[in-house]
Amino acid sequence: MGERVKKLLAKMTLAEKIGQMCQVAGTGGISQGLRNAVREGKVGSVLNETDMATLNEIQRVAMEESRLGIPVIIGRDIIHGFQTMLPIPLGQAATWNPDLIRKGARMAAVEGRSAGVHWTFAPMIDVTRDPRWGRIAESPGEDPYLTSVVGAAMIEGFQGKNLSDRDSLAACAKHFAGYGYSEAGKDYAYVNISESELRNIALPPFKAAVDAGVATFMTAFSDINGVPATGHAYLNRTVLREEWGFKGFVVSDWDSVIQLITHGYSESEKEAARASVAAGVDMEMASQTYLYNLAALTEEGKISEAMIDECTANILRVKFELGLFDHPYTDPVHFPEKGNPEHLDIAEDAARESIVLLKNDYNVLPLNPDNLQNVAIIGPMADDAHEQMGTWTFDGKEAWCRTPLQAIRERLKGKANLHFAKGLSNSRSRSHEGFAEALDIAAKCETVIMFMGEEAILSGEAHCRADINLPGAQNELLAKISKLGKTTVLVIMAGRPLTIEQTGHYTNAMLYAWHPGTMGGPAIADIIFGDAPPSGKLPVTFPKHVGQIPIYYNQRMSGKPATHDSFTYIDNIPQRAPQTSVGNTSFHMDVGFEPLYPFGYGLSYTRFHYGDVRLSAHEIKADESIEIYIDLTNTGERRGAETAQLYIRDRFGSITRPVRELKGFKKIWLDPGQTETLTFTLHADDLAFYNAENKRVVEPGDFDLWVGGDSRADRHAHFKIIE
Ligand code: BGC
Repeated sequence: MGERVKKLLAKMTLAEKIGQMCQVAGTGGISQGLRNAVREGKVGSVLNETDMATLNEIQRVAMEESRLGIPVIIGRDIIHGFQTMLPIPLGQAATWNPDLIRKGARMAAVEGRSAGVHWTFAPMIDVTRDPRWGRIAESPGEDPYLTSVVGAAMIEGFQGKNLSDRDSLAACAKHFAGYGYSEAGKDYAYVNISESELRNIALPPFKAAVDAGVATFMTAFSDINGVPATGHAYLNRTVLREEWGFKGFVVSDWDSVIQLITHGYSESEKEAARASVAAGVDMEMASQTYLYNLAALTEEGKISEAMIDECTANILRVKFELGLFDHPYTDPVHFPEKGNPEHLDIAEDAARESIVLLKNDYNVLPLNPDNLQNVAIIGPMADDAHEQMGTWTFDGKEAWCRTPLQAIRERLKGKANLHFAKGLSNSRSRSHEGFAEALDIAAKCETVIMFMGEEAILSGEAHCRADINLPGAQNELLAKISKLGKTTVLVIMAGRPLTIEQTGHYTNAMLYAWHPGTMGGPAIADIIFGDAPPSGKLPVTFPKHVGQIPIYYNQRMSGKPATHDSFTYIDNIPQRAPQTSVGNTSFHMDVGFEPLYPFGYGLSYTRFHYGDVRLSAHEIKADESIEIYIDLTNTGERRGAETAQLYIRDRFGSITRPVRELKGFKKIWLDPGQTETLTFTLHADDLAFYNAENKRVVEPGDFDLWVGGDSRADRHAHFKIIE
């Protein structure tokens, strides 16, 4: 590959090299301007064009009419499916099932490639602790380890066995880096992050992406501690290339090169282009500062031609690896139909496993269809194909979607009477106009299933919220329905964790289904009627109140951590109480110190019992590993799946360490009465962290370890790392 790149590079003019570094947005069809630019070798990549005939024509011009016949690479945001939509990435993370996530990405790649797309801008692997941020929907959540596993699975799925296979899609690890820390959960805002937090929390998923062979990286929009990511040489060169040995190419985000001016970092477009290339950004997305300035910058010696060569070579290498020189065109005969039954099955499996059972009072779930007579389905999310697909669904086929109402109607056909009322025209509506009809049908039925949440547009890029309660008048409607004293089940579809403490009081059972995608309906019906058990676990902490944010499980201890005995609720504080009497620990007087639901949480229809933790050794050296065994038994009456999670704590460090860190998990299926011994292997190197000098170290000392069904896991063991 190196030889082919070198040979081609030697033939290229400076202008042709710069052309490879330019990505332009498709405009629907091939305009004369685009045709000329491609012919003149001024376009390395096109994004957001999915008409296959247009794409093949763009490619034909590149291959046959440009001087060197270099193919164009076509990019598109295939974030959670192409036309067959998977759950949003946050929902996929809730499956804790990397094999399923890999399969989903593979399916998306096949559909995307069949439409002429070569490259997806996914996975998004920004660790985030802020559910106000709309892009949490696109992320695998708050934890660096889970995010790493999910991201790697997506990359493997997108890229397939060999990048050169006709159905492989080049992946893109984004947004490098720290974007998930946008201040106040407001998109595009500055990021103030310590080097330690960056190294230990934000960067590990990106390192895992390099290890998984990701072809490309995208920079973040963010200003990180004063340096915008697109001008950040330390991140894009020192860390990514020098430390991690990344060999693919780096693309900017949309206009993020020209935005260096808006940030107040570069004074002109020319300076923005210089800063970005100097920082290691090989390709510019959308804005055209490279096209118009790099030649002059090179001639003036402000950018060396060697730098331009390096950027161009990085891009060409990926094009060669993708096989674009050998099979530049797309012919649908090489691909299965999009949305075929196998693809829909994968989407349904993913949706089913993404659903988290948060609450199930009196075991009202699963409902037995044979015992139902009159069922009310209520809510704006019950029968809305568009909304269940979630954010980033450019290409998603609404017509293929199966809604919960459709699926439940099918299940109950000939068994029970079904009544449906939206209650609210959409999730944001504050109008009570539809309440009477909803209450009327609820009153007639013994069971009420409600579908509430957030429309797709309320999460995703730039769609942040300061209040993350159920929007509109949904809580009011729920409150009224709850007064009727029926058996109630609430299914929430949303792009983020919502603050649902009060909401939960209005219902007997609560399922969190995220935005579940094309097959959300049948997946939800399966869970409601017990054809499949709920098996999702939260990939992110659910706060009780928005004021607790950021709240996450792997916080550090502080010198005065709260305990149940060490804090007082605001209502219990006597007037004029002495300042110290409420307990001088770390909590909020009005909501305490605990979340509503912890990271890793999710109920099942059965019960699981964890035995004692056994270790292969109690002391290991820094180059050794330890085996951890635990017996897991299904002690309930139904088959179910459990995700056993392994957490550790490094008791004392040269910098303080989190109270818990996820280091492994296993999702297994057990029949009633069945016991399985789970084995985890932990290498001492898995316990490494970046110290105050930014060195990756494994420090000898004492470690706690827990295994259990969520981040409060209580089966404990202790071991030491010795010199
Ligand atoms: C987003 C990226 C996306 C790009 C191209 C930007 O606004 O931040 O994540 O890949 O647009 O659509």
